[in-house]
Formats: sequence, structure tokens, C-alpha cells
Amino acid sequence: MSFNFLRHISPAIIAASCLVIAAPAGAEDLSAWKLPAVPVPADNPQSEAKIALGHQLAFDTRLSKNDSISCAGCHLPFAGGGGHTPRAFGHGGELGRWAPTWVNSAYSTSLFWDGRAASLEEQTGALIDARGNHMGPISAPPEMAGDVPTVVNKLNAIPAYRKAFNKAFGEDATPGNIAKAIAAYERTLVATDSPFQRYVNGDDKAISKAAKRGFDLFRGKALCIECHTAPLMTDNDFHNIGVPQVGPLAEDEGRYAVTRDKDDMGAFKTPTLYNSASLAFFMHDGAMSTMQQVIEHYNKGGDAKNKNQSSLIEPLKLSKAEVADLVVFMETLTDDRLNRIHRPELP
Ligand code: HEC
Ligand code: HEC
Repeated sequence: MSFNFLRHISPAIIAASCLVIAAPAGAEDLSAWKLPAVPVPADNPQSEAKIALGHQLAFDTRLSKNDSISCAGCHLPFAGGGGHTPRAFGHGGELGRWAPTWVNSAYSTSLFWDGRAASLEEQTGALIDARGNHMGPISAPPEMAGDVPTVVNKLNAIPAYRKAFNKAFGEDATPGNIAKAIAAYERTLVATDSPFQRYVNGDDKAISKAAKRGFDLFRGKALCIECHTAPLMTDNDFHNIGVPQVGPLAEDEGRYAVTRDKDDMGAFKTPTLYNSASLAFFMHDGAMSTMQQVIEHYNKGGDAKNKNQSSLIEPLKLSKAEVADLVVFMETLTDDRLNRIHRPELP
């Protein structure tokens, strides 16, 4: 299958940087795991006014056709920023894919499960691409099905929004300003206050002994680190890990639909694991619903019958106690602040 709003993008550039800093004797140096400062594009600097406006827009159903659904309607803060149904429901009925978390998407070098969008601004669907198409949820027919010029007019007709756009951008709402405000808001959804981040920043008591054992497994026997690399818990790359195909699609080609490279058949973006312990579902098609199930999938070596599965996936021989420790470690990646975001008052 392929998405009609698909367009070619250049492959993600994976910058592997290696930082070696001498650690004090006895203590392990974990600085490689510190979340870095969020990259901010030069043409969209962060400002309080912009972030507050983006927060409102992300919760406002008026960005969709018939004022029916907002971004937060599919990216639920209380469910780790992901969807509450295994496949997202939008104007086109059930989509083939599950809504991934927007937590830490600020760091992504490419967006969507197949990496077809290059920036958070572009991802919103408010902008027009080189071929004159909109892509992304606001305008994508199966998602919010909004008509961007109509949305712009709707917002400019609301005096408080018009004022807020002028405060943030010095002008009325435009497609570009809508994209910029939402992206600026998304750049604040970063899990810097998770117990694991407190731990790598020097608070040894921030995570339990079981979690520390889980972290060692994550970096050792369980092989998670092959793809969920430091510091972001993702290599921003694409792999086929043998997830069963469920939902309305007979087959989801994943990254192959973007690159047409056979090695990418059924490969999906490595997700960030931050706040993933709060998710209601997991994987591109929501095929799994507990962290236990996810780890059991890896433990049995994924799907040995899947011809395109990555050679990095192999049986792990983790004991029950080791699986439990890994689950405890995954829970330390949750920044509770991001699960408690509320709908702001809307103008
Ligand atoms: C109908 C449900 C739905 C709505 C509404 C929706 N999304 Fe999504 N979102 C999804 C699905 C499904 C995906 C994955 C699609 C894919 O990979 O092809 C996604 C992907 C994303 C991603 C990519 C994350 C990543 O790690 O690659 C971001 C960011 C995002 N959405 C933000 C938004 C914003 C901002 C809005 C509002 C303008 C929005 N979404 C509205 C369902 C939705
Ligand atoms: C070969 C690379 C690779 C390895 C090794 C790997 N992962 Fe993944 N992980 C991925 C990819 C790619 C996905 C998404 C796959 C999909 O949706 O089809 C994923 C998905 C996940 C998810 C679901 C998150 C979400 O937002 O849906 C969790 C949780 C996870 N991995 C944890 C782990 C753990 C724990 C380990 C070690 C036991 C591990 N991974 C090993 C690449 C890998």
C-alpha cells in the first residue's frame, strides 16, 4: 500500500557523535544518555507567546473539518502522547497506523512511522509542499480533513486568536504561522524530568536497583541498544522487527514506500522510548498492548518466519526476572509532567 500524500524525502542523516569524558572514580559516566538541548530551526525561534498559542491549537477541534477532532484527540497526554485505539480514527475511518507519541518528537530527523516528513512544521499538514500538496493531519483527508484556507479564515475571525497570532508572529494567522506555533509547542514535549534523566544527571537514587539491572540488560544481553541508542533511545533509523500486521491493511510496506529500497520492506522508524510505558498500544499498527508483550516479542526473536526481519533481532533467552527488570527500567523513562497536560482554555 502507499499513502497518496506520500512524497519523496532525502534519507535521514544519522550523526553519530561520540563523547568521552573522564568519570569520577567509582561512578559510571552516563553523560552520553543526557537528553541534549532541543534543536530549534533558525526561522522559528521559541517564544512563550508562540508556545502558548501552539498549545491551544493542538487542542482545538476547529482545525479540522466540522470542528470534530484536534491533534490531542489522537495524541492523548494521559496515554503517553499516543493513540487510545490501536489504529487511529479520523475522517477516513480507521487508519492503518497507530498514533505514535509526540513526546521527544522534537529530536526526530524524520517524522511518521516511515519518515516521510522532514520537520515538525511540515508534519502538521498546514504547509504546502513543492508539488502544491498539503500533507499531514490538519489537511490529510483520513485524519482531520481540514481545508487550510478555511481554517486560517476561521482562526482570524476569532478576535482572541487573531490577537495571539499577532503577539507571537506580528501578523494574522497564516498556514506557516499555524505550523510554526504547533511545532514550537511540540518542542516543549521533552522528557527531561523522567527518573532516568534525573539518574543520568547524577541523582543515583532516582531509579531503583531493579531499574538499574534493567538498564544493564538494555545495554547488554537484551540488545535493545542496537537500535534504541544514546542519547535519544532511537537511532532515528528504520528496521523491520517482525511486528505482526494487524488492522485494515493487508500489508504495510513502511519505509519501503518512501525509499523503494528492498531492504526497507516492512521497516519502521525506531520510536523514542520516553513515556512509552504509559502508552495504550505499541508499534506502527498498535499490534501490542503491554510492555510485557513487547519485551516477550523481542525475547522470542521477533518473528523468525518474517523474511525481511532485521538480523539484529534474535532470541534473547531472558529469564522472567530479567523481563520484569526491563519493564521496570522502561517505566523510569516516563516524565509524568507530559502525561498531565491539560486542554488550555480556548478563545
Ligand atoms: C486521526 C488521528 C490523528 C490526529 C487528529 C493527529 N494525528 Fe498525529 N499521528 C497520527 C498517526 C496515525 C500518526 C502516524 C502516521 C504514520 O506514521 O503514517 C501520527 C504521527 C504524528 C507525529 C509523528 C511522530 C513521530 O515520531 O514520527 C507527530 C509529531 C504528530 N502526529 C503530531 C500531530 C499534530 C501536531 C496533530 C494536529 C495538527 C496531529 N498529529 C493530529 C494520528 C493523528
Ligand atoms: C533492530 C532494532 C531494534 C532492537 C534491537 C530493539 N528495537 Fe524496539 N523498536 C524498533 C523499531 C523499528 C520499533 C517499531 C517497529 C514497528 O512499529 O514495526 C520498535 C518499537 C519498540 C517499542 C514500541 C514503542 C512505541 O512507541 O510503539 C518498544 C517499547 C521497544 N521497541 C522497546 C525495545 C526493547 C525493550 C528492546 C530490547 C529488548 C528493543 N526495543 C530492541 C527497533 C528495535
